[in-house]
Amino acid sequence: MSLLATRDLTIRFGGHVAVNAVTCAFQPGTLTAIVGPNGAGKTTYFNLISGQLKASAGQVTLDGRDLSGFSVSQRTRAGLGRAFQLTNLFPRLTVLENIRLAVQATREGGHRRGLNLWSVWSDHRGLIARADEILAAVALADKENELVANLPHGDQRKLEVALLMALESQVFMFDEPTAGMNAAEAPVILNLIRKLKEDPRKTILLVEHKMDVVRELADRIIVLHNGTLVADGAPAEVIASPIVQEAYLGVAAQNASAQDGTPPHPGVSPRRERGEQP
Ligand SMILES: Nc1ncnc2c1ncn2[C@@H]1O[C@H](COP(=O)(O)OP(=O)(O)OP(=O)(O)O)[C@@H](O)[C@H]1O
Ligand SMILES: [Mg+2]
Repeated sequence: MSLLATRDLTIRFGGHVAVNAVTCAFQPGTLTAIVGPNGAGKTTYFNLISGQLKASAGQVTLDGRDLSGFSVSQRTRAGLGRAFQLTNLFPRLTVLENIRLAVQATREGGHRRGLNLWSVWSDHRGLIARADEILAAVALADKENELVANLPHGDQRKLEVALLMALESQVFMFDEPTAGMNAAEAPVILNLIRKLKEDPRKTILLVEHKMDVVRELADRIIVLHNGTLVADGAPAEVIASPIVQEAYLGVAAQNASAQDGTPPHPGVSPRRERGEQP
């Protein structure tokens, strides 16, 4: 059971505080949606947790262990899974080979048993069986012999999730996982997240702008605004709060009006541009 927490987590870019003293804990078996306007600091918060960015102040802990001095790969080994870029995969190997390598990386010691061919063979079969199971879970079994370099965008995103499963991550961080996907691809990824949610050991963090998705999947919503945590609670309560109605749903009203020509909902402020103050 891995409890992820941040305490006073802060990063400054020059004079701009992109994430400002965020203190929050995330329980296993829950999915927390992180919402907020463009430029609120959501992606930066993920980057601080995964170690891609170094905090100016504050801590990230997993089960009370301070990960602040840990590199990205040390954090991955500790159980933090940030959806990978394809650069973390081997493009010239097949889908199955990539996942098999990830499964292998989590199982130590096999090679130290010496050249017992039966043992090598049975290890190999075990790895393939686990890799097959994961690929079936992400609906990529029929692509297992494709080279990663040849996969379409949606399948690459599925493979990213498969990799986190193979690495036995405890924490899954999804940053707009369906962005850029077509109508057929998005439900596959959302189903995957639904399936992950059934595992009481997994902690899931999801940055998502689509409120219908958030409403359906989230057990809890936190709201970031100008880098500060401004709301935290049950989905219905947070969505109804004035801060979300004003600062966040204004985005939807503005987008809708841009598309169909109707004016934004009265009383809802328009979308704020990056960094602009209200
Ligand atoms: N490497 C960086 N250097 C300087 N400023 C940065 C850097 N990364 C992010 N920022 C700034 O930090 C703020 C937060 O950006 P971030 O990308 O985390 O927002 P976000 O909530 O993910 O927005 P979106 O919904 O558009 O993805 C923005 O003002 C952004 O310009
Ligand atoms: Mg972002």
